[in-house]
Parts: sequence; C-alpha cells; structure tokens
Amino acid sequence: MYNGEKLNAKAFVEEQVAAIKEQVGSDVVILGLSGGVDSTVTAVLVNKAIGDRLQCIFVDHGLLRKNEFEDVLEHYKVLGLNVKGVRAADRFFAACSGLTDPELKRKAIGKTFIDVFNEEARKVSDAKWLAQGTIWPDIAESKSDKGTIKSHHNVGGLPEEMHLGLVEPLKYLYKFEVREVGAELGLAQSFLGRHPFPGPGLGVRCLGELTPEKIHILQEADAIWIDTLKREGWYDKIWQAGAIFVPVKTTGVTDGCRTYANVIALRAVNSVDAVTAQVVHLPWELLDEVQNEIISKVDGVNRVVFDISSKPQATIEWE
Ligand code: XMP
Repeated sequence: MYNGEKLNAKAFVEEQVAAIKEQVGSDVVILGLSGGVDSTVTAVLVNKAIGDRLQCIFVDHGLLRKNEFEDVLEHYKVLGLNVKGVRAADRFFAACSGLTDPELKRKAIGKTFIDVFNEEARKVSDAKWLAQGTIWPDIAESKSDKGTIKSHHNVGGLPEEMHLGLVEPLKYLYKFEVREVGAELGLAQSFLGRHPFPGPGLGVRCLGELTPEKIHILQEADAIWIDTLKREGWYDKIWQAGAIFVPVKTTGVTDGCRTYANVIALRAVNSVDAVTAQVVHLPWELLDEVQNEIISKVDGVNRVVFDISSKPQATIEWE
C-alpha cells in the first residue's frame, strides 16, 4: 500500500465491503469495465457489497484484442456481474478518422469513450455513484511535475454534470496488491495474471491513422504472439507483451513472388510499476517460430521485428 503497510487481503476485502455499504447506502452505482484486472476487481468488490445495485457498462471501442469483447463479457456474466455490453467501434473509428498524432488519437478515443459511457450511464437514471478502478500508481503518476509524457491516466475524468460521487476502493493499492485482493475474491489466476492493457487499446499500438483493416491485421498478429508466449510458458513470466502495427511497407518474397506489405513489431517487457521497463530476453527459437507463423498466416504482413528498447529511453507503448 502507498503508506508502506503490508496488505492483508482478507481484512482489506472485509473493510472495503463495509466501507462501500456505508458510503453508498441504498443508492445505485455505475462502473465502466475495461476488461482489465483493476476495473474487474473493483466491480467484484462493489458487487459483493451491494449486489445488482452495481450496474456495469463494458464499451467495445473496436480496439480490443481479438475476440476479447465477447470472451470478457461472458466472463463477467459468469462472475455474476450486472453488465451491459455496448458495441461502439464505428463511433471510435469515425472520431479518429484522419488523426495520426498519438495525443490527438488518445484524446479522440478518450472523448468518445466518455460520450458513449455517459449516454449509457444516463440510462441508469437513479445512479448516484461512479465506481472506478483507480490504483495508487495512477494517482502518483498524475501528480508528477515533470510534464505530460502521455495523457493516459483517467484520474479526474469524472463526468461532472452527472453529479456522481466517486467510489475508488483500490486507490491506495499497487497492482500486485490488486491481484492479491482479486485472488481473495475468488478470481481465477488466468484472469488476474493478464498483462496490463492500455485504455485506448490497440489504438496506441497501431501507428498513424486507425482503420478497421489495420486493427484487424494487428489483432491477428497480436493473437499469434500472445498464444505463442502462453504455449511456450513465457506469458506468466512477462509483465506486458503486445504487437504493434507499423504502417511502413517493405519488400518481401512469398512463393517466388514479390510482396510489398506492412511491418509488425513485437514487444515484451518486464517492469514493476511501468515507470521503468526492461526487454525480456526471449529464446531466438521462439522469435523465429512466431515470425514465421505471423508472416505466413496474417495477410498484409511480410516482416516482423522485435523491439529491444528499454524504458527509459523508449516508452512501453510505441505511441
Ligand atoms: P508507457 O508507454 O507510458 O506505458 O511506457 C506505461 C504503462 O501505461 C500503459 N499506457 C496506457 N494506459 N491509457 C492507459 O490506460 C493510455 O493511454 C496508456 N498509454 C500507455 C502502458 O500499456 C503501460 O502499461
């Protein structure tokens, strides 16, 4: 915890369930699920306190991993969460049309997310509270006085005109502690061990303008990358991994014919808190296997590179 005390997950859950009951009384609470660990643990905790008076909203911005919206929505239902899935990919692609600057893309995705979320939240007419999966590093990084590197933290993004109070039960926890709380709440290790995934999703891993075609190529390549890491026993030893669509065409050759197609970059880093990160030293055999599978199976890609940069001086995401 931010104050240096060691977390007792069982006691934390009991305390927070009591605190949430006390805070919200008989009111209705809304929460935006992202598919990630923080928002899911928050939802399960709030649900434990107030049951179906927690109304969750899961927005599909079209920038999730392959099949993620369907799979995660199903998982939320299995967890007993009261959740509404909202498909809104077209609106996000329209909002990002013509944008190539990473920060403008982030802002367009963020604004569209708030618009879609608010429209849905307003339908829950008696909601008085907004629960969020804010954790301590989100707050600490937002307070940094060294200027904005990337505008990625959702702290302070409350839709003010809705006059909702905030419920943030995890706000003094680090990521590893959120996982301990999730385990205490009975969430599966396969879910708790998921790599962090940015709010704008593949939008910051698809360089330049976003189109459904580019995102489709990226989803296919990313799925092969992640499946390979899981199959070869590496996924759980890595803090964060993903593929990046690099819209640079290079010459290749397939069955004796010239190709001219895009580059996919692969990234795998270890980190504690995302402030610094080191490249994972993967076996060449694994990298060779994955480049071959991506190039032979994903149309539109004829070259794969592995990003060997650390943070600093690179960042984890390319945009
Ligand atoms: P960087 O690229 O800044 O990433 O080294 C550090 C961590 O933050 C995540 N990240 C984001 N998360 N919205 C998010 O919710 C964003 O716009 C965003 N950009 C980066 C990144 O995945 C890594 O875990």
